[in-house]
Amino acid sequence: MEEKIEVHGPTKVSGVLPVSGAKNSVLKLMAAALLAAGESTITNVPEIQDVTIMAELLRRLGCTVRYDPAQQTVDIDVPEVLGHQADYDLVRAMRASISVLGPLVARCHRAEVALPGGDAIGSRGLDMHRAGLEAMGAELSIEKGFLRASVAGNLRGTTYHLDYPSVGATENLMMAAALANGTTVLENAAREPEIVDIGRMIQAMGAHIDGLGTSTITVEGARKLHPVTHRTVPDRIVAGTWAFAAAVTGGRVEIQGAEPAHLTMVLEKLRAAGCTIDTSRGRFIVEGPERPHAINVSTLPYPGFPTDLQPFVVALNAVAQGSGMVTENVFEARWGFTAELERLGARVRLDGHHARVDGLPAHQLSGAPVEAKDIRAGAALAIVGMAATGVTEVSGVAHIDRGYEHFVERLSAAGASVERRIVGGLF
Ligand code: UD1
Repeated sequence: MEEKIEVHGPTKVSGVLPVSGAKNSVLKLMAAALLAAGESTITNVPEIQDVTIMAELLRRLGCTVRYDPAQQTVDIDVPEVLGHQADYDLVRAMRASISVLGPLVARCHRAEVALPGGDAIGSRGLDMHRAGLEAMGAELSIEKGFLRASVAGNLRGTTYHLDYPSVGATENLMMAAALANGTTVLENAAREPEIVDIGRMIQAMGAHIDGLGTSTITVEGARKLHPVTHRTVPDRIVAGTWAFAAAVTGGRVEIQGAEPAHLTMVLEKLRAAGCTIDTSRGRFIVEGPERPHAINVSTLPYPGFPTDLQPFVVALNAVAQGSGMVTENVFEARWGFTAELERLGARVRLDGHHARVDGLPAHQLSGAPVEAKDIRAGAALAIVGMAATGVTEVSGVAHIDRGYEHFVERLSAAGASVERRIVGGLF
């Protein structure tokens, strides 16, 4: 038996769509709680599978974790003495588990984190996580599938220049630096709103951090940090998903609880595609044109166009007037879903890290069974299915559930004909 999402098209996505707290922030906020003994509370927590996995990981480290999806909160009671090992079963299920590395080395002076798997969207190295911690005095090695780190005494503040503004490495090093002796300067740091969010939580815990949201982050290590209550920043990728749902299907959505300022580049591209966008007087409304124009997009670290919304650009271009070029600069292998999109009749030509898409009127795409291979690809395939004619059956639903709270219910309330189905397998 397998769960699938069945989409009947063509329909327009029109209505009010709420935005939860950011997946890519909340998981790291939960890891940051490890920096202080005592009870920290995270609010505006999305009801997604990855939060459950992170909660289990923290429990295995010795924390008492209460996750209340109805209240959108996670309480994390962190003991004075923590475990230091993150097991393969959890890290494999969720690559973001690597974010406990920095806090554990800082608190326990050692950590063993299984090497991750995660979404099938590129090589996703860890070299900067390693090199940054080594620059702070830790010794790292890979043994028996684990990344092992240890340091005699506290980590030491240093200046470390990242080769590339990696989100995960910036977060791990910022968290590690919060309990290091002295000052750490991270140069060429990532600037994503989620980095700012995590930095603000660590500031509230008692560390001094300057330069959040810029390429140079300075962290003054504290001897001890204290637990806090912190509200998760809104999920800009979920907000972007809803905006593209309107753009691809020619609908009109009011996005609630999001921060449009975190989507400046995305909204600029949607306007170029012909969308009308109103962010005045606290509203956030996106209205798609009858048929969008194709757009050219290159993904880049924030404030550039987010790689996590790249599949939606390909989806939009597939139903647009004209041809668009999409260039993927962050995860080189993030094209697995284009073969699935072609099953609906989309015209995509791949050339290295470029995808040229020639648009067709949406009704000429015909529904088909497709497989979601990662979170965003799954959501993008379902949305194209809403614009196409006939039935699109998306398998690999677990991926979508990792990143979207009530995906089916929300889109269905906004007019899409979409439901979950349990279907029998072949064998
Ligand atoms: C995070 C997000 C992910 C998003 C990505 C980029 C989470 C849980 N995931 O992933 O949704 O798509 O940011 O915005 O927050 N790299 C190295 N060496 C390193 C670190 C990274 O080579 O030490 C490479 C990766 O292979 C990848 C690129 O840098 O090609 C970007 O990775 P990074 O910014 O670290 O993304 P993640 O933190 O993995």
